[in-house]
Amino acid sequence: MKEREHFGSRRAVIYAMAGSAIGLGNIWRFPYMVGEHGGAVFVISYIVATLLISLPVFIAEVTLGRRSRTSAFGAMSAMDPRHKKRWRWVGLMSVFIPLFILCYYSVIGGWSLYYLFKSFAFDFVKSSPEAVEGLFGSFITSVWMPILMHLLFLATCVWIVARGVKSGIERFSRLTIPALFVLIILLIVYSLSLPGASAGVEYLFRPERGDLNVKTFVYAMGQSFFSLSLGMGAIVTYGSYIKSDENLVVSSAGTAIFDLLFALLAGLAIMPAVFAAGIEPGAGPGLIFQSVPFIFSSMGVKWPVLSAIVSILFFLAIIVAAMTSVISLVEVGVAFLHERFGMKRPRASLLVFLACGAVGVVCSLSFGPLSGIQLVGKNIFDLFDWFASNVLLLLMAFTVVVFVGFVMKKKDVWDEITNGGRKKLNDRLFGVIYFLIKWVAPISVLAIFITNFIL
Ligand code: TRP
Repeated sequence: MKEREHFGSRRAVIYAMAGSAIGLGNIWRFPYMVGEHGGAVFVISYIVATLLISLPVFIAEVTLGRRSRTSAFGAMSAMDPRHKKRWRWVGLMSVFIPLFILCYYSVIGGWSLYYLFKSFAFDFVKSSPEAVEGLFGSFITSVWMPILMHLLFLATCVWIVARGVKSGIERFSRLTIPALFVLIILLIVYSLSLPGASAGVEYLFRPERGDLNVKTFVYAMGQSFFSLSLGMGAIVTYGSYIKSDENLVVSSAGTAIFDLLFALLAGLAIMPAVFAAGIEPGAGPGLIFQSVPFIFSSMGVKWPVLSAIVSILFFLAIIVAAMTSVISLVEVGVAFLHERFGMKRPRASLLVFLACGAVGVVCSLSFGPLSGIQLVGKNIFDLFDWFASNVLLLLMAFTVVVFVGFVMKKKDVWDEITNGGRKKLNDRLFGVIYFLIKWVAPISVLAIFITNFIL
């Protein structure tokens, strides 16, 4: 058997995991979740959930991956061969969930692509700040354009996976992720200078008393799992590529903090513009596509060329960030079809494209012709997003921590986390991490999950 590939260095590990983590979750999903769930209260819940629950789940996932040295599908069976059957179901779920997410994630990828084309055409610069909002409404309610963009985006990603030129994109993303950082900081500076911006900052960071509830926390936890790519084996698989002398705690904490910071920066760039433009913060999935063009349009009044360049770079960077995440989603399905059914990669890729493309079309139409189909006030797209991050990811994350806490031997976990005692992680720190994985994470996930359903 071929020896498993390894990431070269700690930097490479963090970059690869951050590449999967940083995506539309930070830039698109986080701000709109903040807007729908009460601003600062959500932001605080999100930070608490990330540090107290997601980080232990993250460490548990890389531990499981590196210990079993296999991808998510087989990791649990490998660690507990006596109950192979049971864990196989969990493994199957971890293949199914990414494909489920892919269907609607790609629709948003398509929207970004459309906005890139619009930036090239100088459309935001040419229209007045008031008019750009209307642009979005007529785009998503139309039938063909969003579908075309979704399929184009998905086809590109699938093609990249099929051709095996993934590493090229990943190398490319090492350039664009830092660029996105710089661009977001630029946008923050500009966004803060807009009249009325301070209301946005207050909205993000000053909690109103009395509106913390379990629902906010469930959504915050779901957002945190989604953003860190947890709860479906992506991180387990990455864990299996980490060298045995690498410090898992440092790599995990590094990725989590990087990702958290990125979300907060995106919020800080977008929320002030939302308030300056007079957009309703709870506007839903379209939030960044309404507020960001407003920034470019008002910037364009004074500096048209600069504004167009920044908007092109911005949407390009978002697309690349989204692509690296989507590639990690597609890869799970393709690798599974290839390994289990011996399907050739191009054929497996085509299958993933057809299945997820078709379901994605339905998600896309749910903003237009199918918007009448609703359940508890959510359209099909919202239901997909809700079901994935507030149900599936939570259940899977719960299973992983319970597995690492109760099924794996404590000695094995200790071995991985301290690298066989070679990393001078003092015993107390290991005790804390283990306690978080074994008790705090599963109990809080379960308690919050159940309370949410009862209330
Ligand atoms: N984390 C990515 C984002 O924030 C999306 C993503 C990629 C993902 N792989 C995942 C989400 C695995 C859940 C599970 O955009």
